[in-house]
Amino acid sequence: MTRYRIEAFHADAPDRLDHLDDHVVTVTDGVITAVSPRADDPAPVDVDLVGSHVVLPGFVDAHVHAPQWPQLGTGLDLPLERWLAEHTFPLESRYADAAFAASVWRDLVATLLAHGTTTAVYFATRHLEATVELGRTCAALGQRALVGRVAMDHPEMTPPELRDPSPAEGVELTVEANRRLGELGPLVTPVITPRFVPACTDALLAGLGDLAASTGAIVQTHCSESDWEHAHVAERFGRSDTAVLDGFGLLRDHTVLAHGDHMGDDDLRLAARRGAGVAHCPRSNMLFANAVFGVRRARALGTRVGLGTDIAGGDQPGVASQMSLAVAVSQMLEDGVDRDLAAERRGAPGSRIDVVHAFWLATAGGADLIGQPVGRFEVGRRFDALAVRVDTGGSGRATSGLRFWDGVDDEPARRFDKVVRLAGPADLDHVWVDGVRRSGTMAE
Ligand code: GUN
Ligand code: FE
Repeated sequence: MTRYRIEAFHADAPDRLDHLDDHVVTVTDGVITAVSPRADDPAPVDVDLVGSHVVLPGFVDAHVHAPQWPQLGTGLDLPLERWLAEHTFPLESRYADAAFAASVWRDLVATLLAHGTTTAVYFATRHLEATVELGRTCAALGQRALVGRVAMDHPEMTPPELRDPSPAEGVELTVEANRRLGELGPLVTPVITPRFVPACTDALLAGLGDLAASTGAIVQTHCSESDWEHAHVAERFGRSDTAVLDGFGLLRDHTVLAHGDHMGDDDLRLAARRGAGVAHCPRSNMLFANAVFGVRRARALGTRVGLGTDIAGGDQPGVASQMSLAVAVSQMLEDGVDRDLAAERRGAPGSRIDVVHAFWLATAGGADLIGQPVGRFEVGRRFDALAVRVDTGGSGRATSGLRFWDGVDDEPARRFDKVVRLAGPADLDHVWVDGVRRSGTMAE
């Protein structure tokens, strides 16, 4: 049992920020067993962070392509389909080499933990051994992870070396990957992962839908990401991407649809009925999506939403920057950007979200999307958390610029704003997953 005395913020709804000003959180075997005001629980604590740190729930990155880590920051001025063919597929082909894969996974998982990503939802690669090794790395370094072998077999839309030999073998490889991932302990959850409809034959999509129904495993894929992708599926099937995925049985409880920018209201309603949701990837969408995903519209229609980096379609490793960008792109969606249009015709009214909403997406919203008991400091949830070091009085330690000024930043809401928008990895002194410290800049 470990008792933490902390000042913390968490949100159990997009419009409800809760400030725990001086609380004791008791953690037993990774589970939060008590949360009380310090005044009600004056017994000794093991870790006292009040005054020096602000504690947040760990971040959920709902969409990461692990093999794209070595291409972070490259080729992003190309359209999606060219970036995939020219940059991504050649790199992903290299993961037939399990030693190369292992070296990338170690660096990726350690770096994401240092950024406060306590849960990551990973697309691994088409390769069985590399995929299982990613799960092993997450278990060894202590990151909560959903991991999926990427299934792809379409003869015209995939290069031969990244193609499952047949639909049946694509399903079998997924079965085997998920069986082995399922043996790696409580932090690792296997996921059924058709890359996206264009890269898969009908038979593979159907086979994976059947597998989801028979095993109950979570599904992840891309959906209506860009004009090209949305139109490609519409042309092949005469229906929307969402409807096609549903037809193959892939739209289920906690299915993670990456991007979803071009999902219409009917698509969002259908996803909501199935319990599926969207991994909103603001940075990547600015580069590839040709549209801004409307978080408020999706939420209003009942669709689950979390936040993702889409590494390496997004060029930023941390979820923190996605929170800031989620707010910014929602403002651009609401206002519009073309000054040649009259202000009242320029944007989509009612689209903007605030910082609390973005923070909820990165924590409790993401946890709800994937059905993991994290994201808030509540009895019964697992203790995944970050301690952000806060400079007071301008001592200047934090190069991020994160400081609390006496007489200026006394209001909790203002301190919260600063932490969410400014805190970077150098400000994270402790990162805990499942009650165990896994990363941080401060020596134990
Ligand atoms: N659609 C299919 N594959 C990918 C990918 O790797 N990244 C992104 N952003 N979109 C995709
Ligand atoms: Fe993606």
